[in-house]
Amino acid sequence: MSDTFFRVHGVVKRFGGLVAVNDVSFDLRHGEIVSIIGPNGAGKTTLFNLLTGQLKPTAGDVSLNGEVINALPPDARARLGLGRTFQIAKPLPALTALENVMVGSFLRHHKLRGAEAKAYEVLREVGLARRANVRASQLTLSERRRLEVARALALEPVLILLDEVMAGLNQSEVAESIDLFRRLNARGLTFLIIEHNLKVVRAFSERVIVIDRGAKIAEGNADEILAMPQVITAYLGRRRG
Ligand SMILES: Nc1ncnc2c1ncn2[C@@H]1O[C@H](COP(=O)(O)OP(=O)(O)OP(=O)(O)O)[C@@H](O)[C@H]1O
Ligand SMILES: [Mg+2]
Repeated sequence: MSDTFFRVHGVVKRFGGLVAVNDVSFDLRHGEIVSIIGPNGAGKTTLFNLLTGQLKPTAGDVSLNGEVINALPPDARARLGLGRTFQIAKPLPALTALENVMVGSFLRHHKLRGAEAKAYEVLREVGLARRANVRASQLTLSERRRLEVARALALEPVLILLDEVMAGLNQSEVAESIDLFRRLNARGLTFLIIEHNLKVVRAFSERVIVIDRGAKIAEGNADEILAMPQVITAYLGRRRG
């Protein structure tokens, strides 16, 4: 497709004898919402780490806007517009929500005032403006998840990778998160999400990629993929509750 801007080609990641990611390829077009699903230990988070530079692939290429970015460290990829959240949120607990977000916004705004204004803007966006001066350690689970998203948004990404960012949220919090992500998507942000809640996958994503034992076993339209017997077996057979 002409609008493809992000390309993953034959990526492999070995940890000693374990092939955690095995020859995975896919493309993303601007404005898409794509979900990655698969059982625990399938290699989803490892795949994200290859895309954002926390890990280097054993083989294969990751390219953005036609340039191979394999050699770039995470901060350089962030500067190019790759944002992410971590499955295990890593806020700086002693810093306030605002300060945590400013760690990100300083990448684009070198003056304190600009970085602070950007941080307030994204805190408002995720519904945390009133909690700006609260220490991260004092936030609820749902607020910490939104803070993770805010930290990623502060870097003004083109593509955002969300790793189980709705895990542990109640139904209304999940609905609010989806509303937020839809608003951001309507403004052009592309989403690649790892999500275990299949209702969320069905409601929010247009395309689904299924990973099992490191390999891509299916890819396509969300409704079609979620109806496939081999997907249901792979996914439901070895899935944590
Ligand atoms: N740094 C590492 N060193 C060695 N093995 C690793 C490392 N990181 C991940 N693994 C292994 O790679 C495999 C894939 O793990 P990964 O965390 O990517 O799975 P996942 O699909 O994200 O699982 P979950 O749904 O539980 O989050 C697992 O067997 C895991 O133990
Ligand atoms: Mg994971």
